[in-house]
Amino acid sequence: MHVTHLSLADFRSYARVEVPLDPGVTAFVGPNGQGKTNLVEAVGYLATLGSHRVSSDAPLVRMGADRAVIRAQVRQGERQQLVELELNPGKANRARINRSSQVKPRDVLGIVRTVLFAPEDLALVKGDPGERRRFLDELITARAPRMAGVRSDYERVLKQRNTLLKTAALARRHGGRSMDLSTLDVWDQHLARVGADLLAQRQDLVAAIQPLADKAYEQLAPGGGPIGLEYKPSSPGIVGHAREELYEQLIAAVAEVRKQEIERGVTLVGPHRDDLVLKLGQLPAKGYASHGESWSYALALRLASYDLLRAEGNEPVLILDDVFAELDARRRERLAELVAPGEQVLVTAAVDDDVPGVLTGTRFAVSDGAVERV
Ligand SMILES: Nc1ncnc2c1ncn2[C@@H]1O[C@H](COP(=O)(O)OP(=O)(O)O)[C@@H](O)[C@H]1O
Ligand SMILES: [Mg+2]
Repeated sequence: MHVTHLSLADFRSYARVEVPLDPGVTAFVGPNGQGKTNLVEAVGYLATLGSHRVSSDAPLVRMGADRAVIRAQVRQGERQQLVELELNPGKANRARINRSSQVKPRDVLGIVRTVLFAPEDLALVKGDPGERRRFLDELITARAPRMAGVRSDYERVLKQRNTLLKTAALARRHGGRSMDLSTLDVWDQHLARVGADLLAQRQDLVAAIQPLADKAYEQLAPGGGPIGLEYKPSSPGIVGHAREELYEQLIAAVAEVRKQEIERGVTLVGPHRDDLVLKLGQLPAKGYASHGESWSYALALRLASYDLLRAEGNEPVLILDDVFAELDARRRERLAELVAPGEQVLVTAAVDDDVPGVLTGTRFAVSDGAVERV
């Protein structure tokens, strides 16, 4: 798919902007702080209902405005769709598809698909497990939009279970009557059921993406690998791959830590405590890989995501935000050759020279809130 038109109202630095887009490569070029990333961030938001830079919506609304609107005309084969999201920080966001407002924001997922690579992605390698979980979860949602519902169910179950555990922990500390633990049993089952669904999807994804990431790393940094992705569950007893066995293993793992959970008042096992260990050769990349290796690793993960989504149909938009300036000439050319044939590739760069020659296409100059085709 590709986006044929992007409109923003009160999004980030833009009061209003209209950007007609072509398939193929489009580069947004302009000095720092002019609003290049803001444009591609908006496209990414339509695909994930989140920003790659901030975890809440408030910074996305233009200072002084109440709400932001992102609208995109999308083409997939012969099919045209108009998607629209209204961001209302502190209140529910609203969505429209083809001008119909009988939809929820989540229904928009799957219409715009993106793979976005940005300097922030270094955190995939160097950051906390939460960064890697988000990487996996956004990708499973791009593969299967129904997973957005599973993810939010899991968050809800976890929150309610934690509340219950906190109550139990407090009652215990204050010597009160001990809680009726049968309520907790019910929440264990919810946690295991939704958690097993999420886990099975994550493990399936890791298996699918591993060879693609290794291939991408080899292309970016020949001879530098191999790289290995190891999914690391929160408890050693969780070893299965199918949903049913994972359910049983989660139930058993939860039972094992119940005493500690009641002492501490938090849920100690489940996909919210898992990690994806990224290995470079024999060593974990985190804590061992150089800056350049970490950068190539993060990029390889994104290129692998792109390959996977392409192979599974409906090609995503590839977004490369401020990426080329970070790479040496050789890696820059390699990356450019890999991505040049994409259905739609959006690139941002501070200066023209940062955009490799093979990436010919449309250029926009971005300056002071104006986005002009050059
Ligand atoms: N909510 C907002 N309201 C107004 N301006 C904003 C908002 N969020 C970011 N900006 C401005 O947008 C600019 C950054 O835009 P960005 O797209 O990141 O720049 P770049 O062209 O370097 O990628 C900054 O000047 C910042 O102050
Ligand atoms: Mg930027």
